[in-house]
Amino acid sequence: MSALPDIQLALRPGIVEFGWGHPAAELLPVDGLAAATAAALAAGPNALAYGAEQGPGRLIAALAAWLERQEGQPVTAERIFVTAGVSSGLDLLCGLLTRPGDTALVEAPAYHLALRIFQDCGLELIPVAADAAGLRPDALGQALETLQASGRSPRFLYTTPTFGNPTGICLAAERRAAIVALTEAANCVVLEDDVYRSLWYDAPPPPPLAAYGRTEGVIRLGSFSKILAPGLRLGWLSASPEIVQRCVLSGVLDSGGGQSHFAAHVAAAFMAQGRLEAHVAQLRAAYQARRDTLLAALAYYLPGDCAWLAPGGGFFVWVRLPEGMDSAAFLPLAEAHGVSFVPGARFAPGGGCSDYFRLAFSLLAPAEMALGAERLGRAINAARVRRPPAA
Ligand SMILES: Cc1ncc(COP(=O)(O)O)c(C=O)c1O
Repeated sequence: MSALPDIQLALRPGIVEFGWGHPAAELLPVDGLAAATAAALAAGPNALAYGAEQGPGRLIAALAAWLERQEGQPVTAERIFVTAGVSSGLDLLCGLLTRPGDTALVEAPAYHLALRIFQDCGLELIPVAADAAGLRPDALGQALETLQASGRSPRFLYTTPTFGNPTGICLAAERRAAIVALTEAANCVVLEDDVYRSLWYDAPPPPPLAAYGRTEGVIRLGSFSKILAPGLRLGWLSASPEIVQRCVLSGVLDSGGGQSHFAAHVAAAFMAQGRLEAHVAQLRAAYQARRDTLLAALAYYLPGDCAWLAPGGGFFVWVRLPEGMDSAAFLPLAEAHGVSFVPGARFAPGGGCSDYFRLAFSLLAPAEMALGAERLGRAINAARVRRPPAA
């Protein structure tokens, strides 16, 4: 057997790993995907050919119908492009829309690994503050004005308005409208990362940003990673036909054909077999139960001067430590107590958030999360005891 790992997840014995925002292994639909794979291959050799650059027509048709059923708004096939997941879609878009040294606006805090992709592309990132209700239109207006005054125009605004990573916040409809109005007026493209939209637990979220404006300026990225399986490396973007064509005509697709073509056939077969709706409903129930377990355990075990918001969907709880504590400095002590998390500063493009950390409730079984919360509570109390008295 190879000593090299097969998967990205690396769990350490004795540690409750809240750091990984991965789907739970037992929620990956192995049997359903085996049946879909068999059907994709039984349909003939097309699943094994180089794929159409935009993605296989059968998946685009299935996605258009599914998005319309989910969101009540029609999406035409010419507006859909199949990607190898959101991460790959962001990288492709950066290659098409930006050059090193360009400026981009990013919601702060934001998904830390999207920030890495932008940094790899040499972009200068300008943070736009969010509060407990999500991205702040006033902060966005200010950032756009400041840039304009210095003669610069941002290539895009990156935001995850629906159950974002790391905060879990869902942006209210009024703010969505205000943000679209501001970006339209400034002619600034919006990259809406919508990876958690289907995973709502209390109430369905408001419509995506494109519903609040002319739609041409918003590129929305969706993914099968959280609702089916991340190993498929499969997602989509919905955008203006011009943007879809720019993606289609890119050199990498001209050379290699459509992205994740085989996985796209498998997902299309999974959808044709009518499995996706039932699977997503099952995920919602399972993740809602995990969220509720984690929230109840945090309320029970964490000291009263910690704070967090209950997320209405997604995978994460964003926790604020007691005043004066730094989550990165606290992490080694937490791990010595057998619990881990991602420190908040990693999500903060312009600095800050050092008193926050992110917990994922997607991966861990409920009993393990309760144990993790108990360990967190003990570690925070231990950190207080260790802190030198104020001078
Ligand atoms: C906000 C956000 N965007 C994108 C991704 C990655 O998406 P994909 O697996 O489709 O590349 C994640 C995964 O954690 C995420 O939280």
